[in-house]
Amino acid sequence: MFDYCILCDHVVKYKMRINRRAPAFSAESAEKDKDAGTGNGSDIGCAGKRRGGIEWRTNMKKITAADLAAMKKSGEKITMVTSYDYSTARLADSAGIESILVGDSLGMVMLGYSDTISVTMEDMIHHCAAVSRGAQNALVVCDMPFMSYQTSVYDAVKNAGRLMKEGRAGAVKLEGGVDFAGHIRAIVKASIPVCGHIGLTPQSVNAFGGFKVQGKTIKTAQRLIDDALAVEEAGAFAVVLECVPAELAEYVSGLLSIPTIGIGAGAGCGGQVLVYQDMLSMYGDFTPKFVKRFADVGSVMKNAFGEYIKEVKDGSFPAEQNTFKADAAVMDEIKKLYSGKQRALSEGVE
Ligand code: KIV
Repeated sequence: MFDYCILCDHVVKYKMRINRRAPAFSAESAEKDKDAGTGNGSDIGCAGKRRGGIEWRTNMKKITAADLAAMKKSGEKITMVTSYDYSTARLADSAGIESILVGDSLGMVMLGYSDTISVTMEDMIHHCAAVSRGAQNALVVCDMPFMSYQTSVYDAVKNAGRLMKEGRAGAVKLEGGVDFAGHIRAIVKASIPVCGHIGLTPQSVNAFGGFKVQGKTIKTAQRLIDDALAVEEAGAFAVVLECVPAELAEYVSGLLSIPTIGIGAGAGCGGQVLVYQDMLSMYGDFTPKFVKRFADVGSVMKNAFGEYIKEVKDGSFPAEQNTFKADAAVMDEIKKLYSGKQRALSEGVE
């Protein structure tokens, strides 16, 4: 199996992975990689140690929307996580995630807006293309941003097409149920797989009057069920349920033949999705109750930046092992050639 060095683009011979789930990083496997010399002889040193011991998946078949839909029948839970860039997508993909969502949450966690309203098609295409380059196996689902589909069925198909053609997505996701079933149907008819998104739909934050749990009353629970059935009937391959009481989400999941993917909707859904900055404690602005922090990457990063600042200031970084050595003869000649200039400088003459 061949893969490319992420630092210098040389082809490197790399271990073949056969299991779908990549093992967690271990110091032992990192050492083995080093010993095996999984580099390519480039003098910037792109051997296994520069890869941090991560095993990249290379030989799995690309997961499709149909594969996710089929997981409902087999009963296997779907795993989905957001990514907005190449490196994170590659990490999630290598861990064995089935689907990567390029969510319009990027407006908040990547671009610093207070909601998702300002996100543009250009933002989505730019980030989706990067994620698609990193996700070798996972299905890349790209969000349709606010006003890229609400305006007309024509706009919906045209912009879904752009996310596929320019962003290289494998499917698109859009918010809305009954009101957008026609849009979903037209996009599906254009051979583009669609994932629905109902319950709390963040693009409607101004209509909802804030980020609130949906379906708590009989009337709103009925609306959620109508939306779910409409999305399924329109041809979506899956539907995200966001911020819905767990019992209702489980009930809706049982009514549908397509999988539900929950976020703040309990364990009774066909799968789960989380925003990666939330699950890794990298986004301090706001953490919803439904988020579990699987790691404190935020603190690890902050401490590492602090260490870097300290070592640069005290001169301990870069050390010899981080430094390229010059040929002594070359340096002697250079010093001879510029000795006049150096003398002038040290005497304060320019
Ligand atoms: O934009 C996003 O990240 C999403 C998830 C919250 C489902 O839509």
